[in-house]
Amino acid sequence: MVNEREQEILMEIQNLKSVYGTNGDSILALDNINLKIKRGEFLCVLGPSGCGKSTLLKTLAGYIKPTSGVCLMQGEPITGPDWHRGVVFQSPTLYPWMNVKDNVEFGPKMRGLPPKEIEEIRNHFLEQVKLTGFSEKATFELSGGMKQRVALARVLANYPQVILMDEPFGALDALTRVNMQSLIRYIWRENNSTILLITHDIDEALLLATRIVIMSKRPGKILKEFNVDFTHTIFEDESKHIIYNEEYYKVKNEILDIINSQIEE
Ligand SMILES: Nc1ncnc2c1ncn2[C@@H]1O[C@H](COP(=O)(O)OP(=O)(O)O)[C@@H](O)[C@H]1O
Ligand SMILES: [Mg+2]
Repeated sequence: MVNEREQEILMEIQNLKSVYGTNGDSILALDNINLKIKRGEFLCVLGPSGCGKSTLLKTLAGYIKPTSGVCLMQGEPITGPDWHRGVVFQSPTLYPWMNVKDNVEFGPKMRGLPPKEIEEIRNHFLEQVKLTGFSEKATFELSGGMKQRVALARVLANYPQVILMDEPFGALDALTRVNMQSLIRYIWRENNSTILLITHDIDEALLLATRIVIMSKRPGKILKEFNVDFTHTIFEDESKHIIYNEEYYKVKNEILDIINSQIEE
């Protein structure tokens, strides 16, 4: 499904190399990464544990600087964290002393929006993540999935240009995980979001992405890209019978072959 909006390059990674530590004791985490993130796409980055996925995400978020190369956001170099790039980690980073409502309102308040608008934004996104009625709860009272939904609402409340998610459902039980996948797919479509989601779960990538990028084991390089569209098909057929179709297994097996060839090396 090609539309014009998806052709706009929102972020670009050019010749990114990332090294931890100094000369004697250094780890090359990422090597020569080149990637463009188009507005409106749901990009999943898939790779084995320790291959540099979180390093890539933190670099895009602006938390860490490239050793060499550059990351651009709408053509401008990324120099630090910014509200325009919302980040969701595996363990929700909520403010434990704040209730649900205050966590979600935090960004709009910091940006000095008028109280009425803050309230509207908060109610809208609490509804979107299905937490209306929980606004006064303390975050420690919530289950893991609910905490992750608060984290998501808090990010959405800033209307970010892109949402960067680092294995956001990795710590959740299987059923909650499936529910969260449906929710994020719905939110992506409803808000016309641009999402980069990191995962080591092939099915998660296949069920959500419009494009999948496969990374090698460390030092992380990009091995291959797949354009997929099962996520749109699932909108049409919520029963997810899609996962039994031939095309799905064809792509899944291709991805498995790439990943397995890395393990055997
Ligand atoms: N702060 C750090 N200092 C030193 N090495 C690190 C640091 N963070 C990550 N690494 C190393 O860099 C590599 C990539 O890490 P990471 O990006 O977290 O991988 P992934 O998210 O794919 O599991 C790993 O070998 C990891 O041990
Ligand atoms: Mg990681």
